[in-house]
Amino acid sequence: MAKTIIISNRLPVQLQISKEGITALPSVGGLATGMKSVHSGGDSVWIGWSGLTDEEIPEGKEKEIDKALAGHGSLQVPLSKEEVDGFYFGFSNRTVWPLFHYFLEYAEFELKNWEIYRDVNQKFADVVLEHSEDGDTIWVHDYQLMLLPDMIREKRPEVTIGFFLHIPFPSFEIFRTLPWRKEILMGLLGSDLIGFHTYDYERHFLSSVRRLTGIEVSYNEIYADNRIVRVDSFPMGIDYKKWHQAALKHDSPKSSEQSDLQKRLDSHRELTPEGKLLLSIDRLDYTKGIAKRLHAFKYFLDKYPEYKEKVRLIILAVPSRANVPQYQLLKSEVDELVGRINGEFATVSWTPIWYFYRSVPFENLIDLYTSSDIAWLTPIRDGMNLVAKEYIASRTDQTGVLILSEMAGAANEMNEALLINPNNFEQIADTIYQAINMPIEEQQARNSLLQNRLERYNVEKWANDFMTSLKSVPSKGVAN
Ligand code: UDP
Ligand code: G6P
Repeated sequence: MAKTIIISNRLPVQLQISKEGITALPSVGGLATGMKSVHSGGDSVWIGWSGLTDEEIPEGKEKEIDKALAGHGSLQVPLSKEEVDGFYFGFSNRTVWPLFHYFLEYAEFELKNWEIYRDVNQKFADVVLEHSEDGDTIWVHDYQLMLLPDMIREKRPEVTIGFFLHIPFPSFEIFRTLPWRKEILMGLLGSDLIGFHTYDYERHFLSSVRRLTGIEVSYNEIYADNRIVRVDSFPMGIDYKKWHQAALKHDSPKSSEQSDLQKRLDSHRELTPEGKLLLSIDRLDYTKGIAKRLHAFKYFLDKYPEYKEKVRLIILAVPSRANVPQYQLLKSEVDELVGRINGEFATVSWTPIWYFYRSVPFENLIDLYTSSDIAWLTPIRDGMNLVAKEYIASRTDQTGVLILSEMAGAANEMNEALLINPNNFEQIADTIYQAINMPIEEQQARNSLLQNRLERYNVEKWANDFMTSLKSVPSKGVAN
């Protein structure tokens, strides 16, 4: 029977080995959290990396690994430490990630890493080929696997292939700096449909294809060999019901089982009933603008000193890609800034910033979303930003203010949020002031519109739109 195969570097779970045995932890990041909802609903198989290198797996444990993953509808592509270093920490996260997020100065162009990236993409392709048949639909995800569509197409020309990029596609002027720009484009063009979060990313991609390959492009269609490759934008949604219903349950007086975090948040509220909680949640990534946000918070406290002892910022920074030097530097910078601001402003009864460097389970995310008056998300560049959507979905009484960077893909669909430029501290300070003082009716009017939109364009609709479009691409036989 024809099936759907989802392929991404990250699987929905990450395996860890300890003395107790093998444990599967949920993966963090928009791709995994979003696709998990799509995957659990259908009869699809998900192919990806387990999170463990070959060297970390004790001899004889391979079967157990396969079994643990099979429980999550997943199949692994085993990778050695050298492959993970070159492919994941190397080309994916030291070249493509910074470049596509406009951090040109962080991008490294190492031939060795490129070669490993190519080889690992081939390894993924081999596993996909082994487990697929003509008639299957193959859905490849994200920047770690941009060569995969063409590698699969070469061996299995009849199969239907979709590709979705979860990060921005940069303007031609940035993309052209990549030494392997043409190979990347040709890899992607093995797809029948290429999806982006926004129209701008789509436009940038089409412009790079036109200028770098000489292949004919007409509107959003590319005429590669005798095939049409369609390009379109599909802004990814969230599992609205999951977040909203969990928040409803959380609000209900029947839910007597409160987490320690929720108890702490409640006691904060009791001690400072006039106080406001600001929340920021991101992976600890330089694209998320965490250090700038801290500077902007200090700027706000200096400009509006009457809010000292009244406003508290909760920062949940999720550990990410800790082997990459830029992430290590960012960690030191954020630790230092939090210490400095808390040192400068704290009083005996008030610490301005609560800083958590960890990931938290779903229940605690709900605690944080439902307890915070303001969500403050200021990425310098972000493909989408699902946290912004999750915060709004969790506001069951429709109160709460979202302050969102205009550089996040999500800003395109969230006009009712307070949109800011993450580099403009004066504007940010005034926007925090506006958020703190926004009348409840205005909060509810804005959030009601946002919620309606998020409920309609949820992750299921996103996946269905993508799949419907993929199936409608005329696959073969374009007249030359
Ligand atoms: N998230 C999580 N655990 C945490 C913090 C965040 O699972 O401790 C999830 C969050 O709910 C969201 C995702 O991680 O779905 C982050 O996605 P987003 O699009 O905001 O950013 P990305 O990390 O993909 O760049
Ligand atoms: C972003 C990327 C995903 C990635 C996630 C977490 O959302 O688009 O592809 O999985 O970040 O990053 P990680 O490097 O831990 O997979």
